[in-house]
Amino acid sequence: MSKVLVAPSILSADFCKMAEAVKNIKEWGGDLIHCDIMDGVFVPNFTFGMPMVKALAKYSELPIDAHLMIIEPERYVEKFCDAGADIVTFHPDASKNVSKALELIKAKGKKCGLALNPDKPLSMIEPYLDQIDVVLIMSVYAGFGGQRFIDESLLKIGDAKSMIENCGRKILIEVDGGVTTENAYHIIHSGADILVAGNSIFSAENPKLAITKIKSSH
Ligand code: DX5
Ligand code: ZN
Repeated sequence: MSKVLVAPSILSADFCKMAEAVKNIKEWGGDLIHCDIMDGVFVPNFTFGMPMVKALAKYSELPIDAHLMIIEPERYVEKFCDAGADIVTFHPDASKNVSKALELIKAKGKKCGLALNPDKPLSMIEPYLDQIDVVLIMSVYAGFGGQRFIDESLLKIGDAKSMIENCGRKILIEVDGGVTTENAYHIIHSGADILVAGNSIFSAENPKLAITKIKSSH
């Protein structure tokens, strides 16, 4: 099994101590800085935009993984790339032109991904398998950190893995929402390559140990 990556979500960090959070994530053994961008329209919550990503990128030695939960992402993907995002992922149901948005990210030399909420089928991303680098399977409904993992997501991760194997391209499976040290084993065994975790890392007594446990859960 290839190495599993952990992407701590800074949504669960102290927003007044973001520089410290990105430094800590590196020290704790995290691999990517997961940034949740919410616009209050696609999801019923607001977080932050390009200026914060730019500030984080300045302080971070780790790649920035931008998860856009915004409508019409094609209007902003280039700006997030310019701000320093290394992976830009958006929800296809939020976009008026998915292919174009993916192309804009690629043209900036960045990795692109598509995200699916629990009620959105894998068939929605099938037409774009030749373009994407990452499939992000939401294991909670996008909008808030600290929700409970939806167990049915495990089947979807397995189906995504088969779909990717059949297409013959290297596409990473990222799983986002309710990931803990307890369920990481099942998530990894279902086929996940990148595990996003917010609450279970930032509220852990020992975040470094939490990341180590998630990574060694196989
Ligand atoms: C939810 C976000 C997640 C969230 C994960 O909309 O996309 O990235 O921050 O947080 P936890 O691990 O607490 O569910
Ligand atoms: Zn996310």
